[in-house]
Amino acid sequence: MADESDVLIIGSGIAGLYTALKCAEFANVILVTKKGTSDSNTNYAQGGIASVFSSEDTFDQHINDTLVAGAGLCDKDSVEMMVKEGPDRIRELIDIGTQFTLKDGNLHLAKEGGHSASRIVHAKDLTGREVERSLLAKISENTSIRMIENAFAIDLITEHHVNAPSKSNFTCFGAYVHNTATDKINIIRAKFTIIATGGLGQIYLHTTNPEIATGDGYAMAYRAGAQLANMEFIQFHPTSLYEPDGTRKKNYAFLISEAVRGHGALLRNKSGKLFMTDYDQRKELAPRDIVARAIDAELKKHGDDFVYIDMTHLPKDEIADNFPNIYKKCLEMGIDASCDYIPVVPAAHYSCGGIVVDKNSRTTLNRLYAVGEVTMTGVHGANRLASNSLLEALIFGKHAAVDIQNRINETFNKVSIPEWDDSDTITADEKVMISHAVKELKLLMWNYVGIVRSDLRLQYAERRINNLLKEVKGIYKRTKVFSGLLELRNLIQTASLIVKGAQMRKESRGLHYNINYPALLKPEGAITTQSKLQNYS
Ligand code: FAD
Ligand code: SIN
Repeated sequence: MADESDVLIIGSGIAGLYTALKCAEFANVILVTKKGTSDSNTNYAQGGIASVFSSEDTFDQHINDTLVAGAGLCDKDSVEMMVKEGPDRIRELIDIGTQFTLKDGNLHLAKEGGHSASRIVHAKDLTGREVERSLLAKISENTSIRMIENAFAIDLITEHHVNAPSKSNFTCFGAYVHNTATDKINIIRAKFTIIATGGLGQIYLHTTNPEIATGDGYAMAYRAGAQLANMEFIQFHPTSLYEPDGTRKKNYAFLISEAVRGHGALLRNKSGKLFMTDYDQRKELAPRDIVARAIDAELKKHGDDFVYIDMTHLPKDEIADNFPNIYKKCLEMGIDASCDYIPVVPAAHYSCGGIVVDKNSRTTLNRLYAVGEVTMTGVHGANRLASNSLLEALIFGKHAAVDIQNRINETFNKVSIPEWDDSDTITADEKVMISHAVKELKLLMWNYVGIVRSDLRLQYAERRINNLLKEVKGIYKRTKVFSGLLELRNLIQTASLIVKGAQMRKESRGLHYNINYPALLKPEGAITTQSKLQNYS
């Protein structure tokens, strides 16, 4: 069965939804999403969107803060583009109905680590949910967008599927999509395909990312031969809520927003000592890589399981008013943030690397675009500045739409695409193998490819991941697809790219810290990985 559209968008976070609205101004759009429409990292975003609105702030300051956090690896032109176009994109969100927090009729601007001014536009501590709500409401009124839930994109369709003569510049013709409600696999054919599948936090044992963040887009793009870069730069958020082993009900951690530290909260070790002064003069508001490593060092030095965030010096009504969601969640855990310290630990949060795109969000494959967290646009370098992710998704989503509009009438040969063939496969009867492999991978990545790395740990991870890749490839070949298997395949593929990137980078920079190369070298630039396609399946 085949569906057809001008533009196929995979993913319903801020990047997919916003880009869909922009493309719908000139084209028809199919948007597929593997679960419900609001199952996304975006829905969990707390702090907000960084942008220059204050008279005490300037574009140059925001640009400089982004470059400093990025530790020498940002693309300055792309950073400038993002920062300067930010206010217009935020006004556009307001125009479509996003309700940001106001103070005296103006946007209330919060502060976060690494920012030299208050510039975080937010909706209390539930910014992502409000953005997602308003985008979904706008899309529901738009007849040019067809949204398909429970539609899991398995693989991009390229020349490899249509038996066209092999060439060096492959074209994307759409995607094979598994409808998890009907268990049917459909072809969705499109003139232009946009990957907006978000991040990969679920590769790690401890993460702030919900279940959907299984690295599908990175793996799909890699299998299709697109270039990826900087996969070693995994951002660990310093402060996710600590829950003792076995007590967490979900397989992701609740975030205690950086905006809390921006509001004056302090970090104490388990003995109550304020420790950030020992690590960086910016203390609690140093960039994230520094704070996360400082916490990791404190935990290792004292053999503790967590450190504390202390807001007890702040007035109770101020805490409850600014951070209602965090305050409520802590109360449910028996912690009154106005008089108790909150136990926190770092957790995998964000991928700074990804599918290489240019300023128009074009990937290295013809007619394939990518937007949002799954990309490597060059704006984050070796470490993303807080609240620059939602901003990046808007800016590059807009550029993708403008570029596609300019190309919409280009000749597009309608190739014949074969139906999905699973005639030699059987229904899985040993799903337990999948869940065990996922657990093994998460633990492996947490222990060996985490905040502090070494050559030995990376070698061990590489060996084990290569075995897992082989095992899963075997299972995939003989089994009818289902979400758990597809996600495992993508998790392992993406993990192997992280390890590859980490092994290639012979220095410590930003989020990548290897004890065998503690020094910063001269900036080497992005480290890219590209499939040689021998293993394409
Ligand atoms: P997502 O929002 O993750 O959306 C991806 C979509 O793709 C989902 O709908 C998913 O279901 C779908 N999908 C994935 N794979 C497939 C597939 N194979 N087939 C079909 N659909 C698929 N950033 C900030 O700038 N400010 C913040 O305050 C902030 N706070 C955060 C708080 C938390 C707890 C977390 C986890 C992240 C936070 N971030 C923040 C980061 C930011 O939220 C994300 O980077 C951003 O939302 C990513 O948007 P996206 O559209 O690229 O991806
Ligand atoms: C937070 O609120 O701390 C998350 C902000 C971000 O990830 O940019």
